[in-house]
Amino acid sequence: MRFFLTCTLTLLLAALGGRAAETDGDAARLAGRVREIFEAKCTDCHGPELPRPKGKFGYVLDLKRVAANADYIVRGHPEKSDLYDMVFKEDMPGEDASVPPLTKDEKESVRRWIEAGAPAPAPAEHPAPTASTGGAEIKMPVWKRALRWLGRLHPVSTHFPVALMFVAVFAEGLAWWTQRPSWLQTVRLLVVLAALGAVAAVGLGWINAYFTSYVGQSASILGWHRWLGTGTGVWAVVCAGLATLGKCEEGTKDRQRFRGALLLGAALVGVTGFLGSALIYGLDHYAW
Ligand code: HEC
Repeated sequence: MRFFLTCTLTLLLAALGGRAAETDGDAARLAGRVREIFEAKCTDCHGPELPRPKGKFGYVLDLKRVAANADYIVRGHPEKSDLYDMVFKEDMPGEDASVPPLTKDEKESVRRWIEAGAPAPAPAEHPAPTASTGGAEIKMPVWKRALRWLGRLHPVSTHFPVALMFVAVFAEGLAWWTQRPSWLQTVRLLVVLAALGAVAAVGLGWINAYFTSYVGQSASILGWHRWLGTGTGVWAVVCAGLATLGKCEEGTKDRQRFRGALLLGAALVGVTGFLGSALIYGLDHYAW
C-alpha cells in the first residue's frame, strides 16, 4: 500500500512538474511570438536603434522593460493595458505607418501574452532581426502617397497666416497711431493674404492629421488644435470680409468692429500655433 502511494505521488509530482515546465515553455514561446510581432510592426518608430523614437518609446523589443512599465501593461489584464488598447484599436501602428495593423491572430497573441502576466522571452529565443510575421509593407496607392506628402506641408504653410495676422495687427496699430488713411490699404492686403494662407493651412492640416497617429494627451491636443485651427481659418476670412467689404474709415463703427475682430484673430492664430508646436515639442516647450 505504501509502495503504491509513493508511486502515485511520484507520478503525480512528475506530471505536475512536467506540466509546469511545459507552461514555462509556452510562456516563453508566447513572449517570443509577441517580440516577433513587435519587431515586424513597431520597430520603424520604436526601434532601439532610432536616435529619436516616437513618443520617447524606443525599447519595444525589450519585453521585460515594456512589461515593467505600468503605463503600458497591467500584467494579467489586457483590458486595462494601454498597449493592448492601442494595438487593438489600431492606433498603433497608425495610419501613417508603412506596415499594416496587427492581424486578428497577432492581437490575440498580444492579449494572451499580457493575460499570462507578460512573461519575458527565453534569452536564446531572440529571433534574427530579419524575422517577419508576414507583416509585408503596405503598398500605398500613388494618390494617397501624394496626399500624405501634401499634408506634410501643413507646418510650413502655417507660417503665413501666423506672421501675416501679427503684421496686420502691427499695421493697424500704426493706422490708429498715425491716423493716416493710407495704412488701410496695407492692412487690407495683409488680412486678405492671411485669410488665404489660413484656409490653405486648415486644408493641409486636415490632410496631415489624417496620416498621423497620436494617442493619449497628444490626441486631445490634436483635437483642440484641429478645431481651434479650423475656427481660426473661418475667423480670418471674416476679418478679410470686414476689412474689404466695408468702407472702414478711421473712427467709424465698421473700423472698430474690424479692429476687434483682427485682435481676436491674432490671438486665435497664436494659441492655435502654440498647440500645433506642442504636438511636436510637447506642451512645455516654452519652459524656461
Ligand atoms: C509609424 C510610426 C509608428 C509605428 C509603426 C508604431 N508607433 Fe507607437 N507611436 C507612434 C507615435 C508617433 C507615438 C507618439 C504618439 C503621441 O505622442 O501621441 C507613439 C506612441 C506609442 C506608445 C505610447 C508612448 C507614450 O508613452 O506616450 C506606445 C505604447 C506605442 N506607441 C506602442 C506601439 C506599438 C506596440 C507598436 C507596434 C504594434 C507601435 N507603437 C507602432 C508611432 C508609431
